[in-house]
Amino acid sequence: MKLSVFQSADLAANYVCELLVDRIKVFPSSVLGLATGGTTVPLYNALVKSFREGEVSFAQATTFNLDEYIGLPEGHVQSYRCFMNTHLFNIVDIKQCRIHFPDVTAENLSEAGLAYDRLIEDAGSIDFQLLGIGRNGHIGFNEPDASFDAASGIRELSETTRADNQRFFTAGESVPSHALSMSIDQILKARKIVLMATGFRKADALARLFSSQYKLESFPASALIDHHNVEIVCDSEAAINLDLAGHEVVCC
Ligand code: F6R
Repeated sequence: MKLSVFQSADLAANYVCELLVDRIKVFPSSVLGLATGGTTVPLYNALVKSFREGEVSFAQATTFNLDEYIGLPEGHVQSYRCFMNTHLFNIVDIKQCRIHFPDVTAENLSEAGLAYDRLIEDAGSIDFQLLGIGRNGHIGFNEPDASFDAASGIRELSETTRADNQRFFTAGESVPSHALSMSIDQILKARKIVLMATGFRKADALARLFSSQYKLESFPASALIDHHNVEIVCDSEAAINLDLAGHEVVCC
């Protein structure tokens, strides 16, 4: 795994923005796998800035978001569709028909997970997958002890994840208990994976990922160790516990 450590979360985000912009410039019809969450906000701000400065166009890009909460009313401000609309999709020139989320309105949600896998495969699989990481090592909403071989589908959120995400919801409103998530198997089919981690809160999870020698379903991010093209991009706070010996590291 390649590791790039930056002095701040904004610098880390600018770097991931450059990676994405460079990719889209060379391959305008790239298939992008996108994440939501606090870590990604500075990245989407940087992408919007690049778009406004005329550096990048999303007109031919296709996107697949990692996950969506089950049970929120349509248009809920904390739905991941709403997050993406606010931070990126409503601002840039992406075509609505090329934006994809797991269909949490479907009658049969397990079937909707399988349909999402088929859609991704029909698009030729993901070229560039962006990931965040949960404090418990989740990627997408694949929580500890979910099978690495499971298809995309319904996932139960762990108590840690629900507690962490409560900060985005108003008092009295609870985080949904379930989500539809892209599977680990599907994530691993991406040609390039960039995992972002920023802040002290992520230091333990990042250190555990970095020192993982075996894939353990109890720590979902460890599935990434077998992928040939994973880059971890973090800030100095998230990197504080890393043992960097023997790894390719870029520090900026
Ligand atoms: C979001 C997602 C999650 C987040 C993770 C980190 O689409 O799939 O895995 O990336 O929970 O969230 P933040 O960045 O809010 O700490």
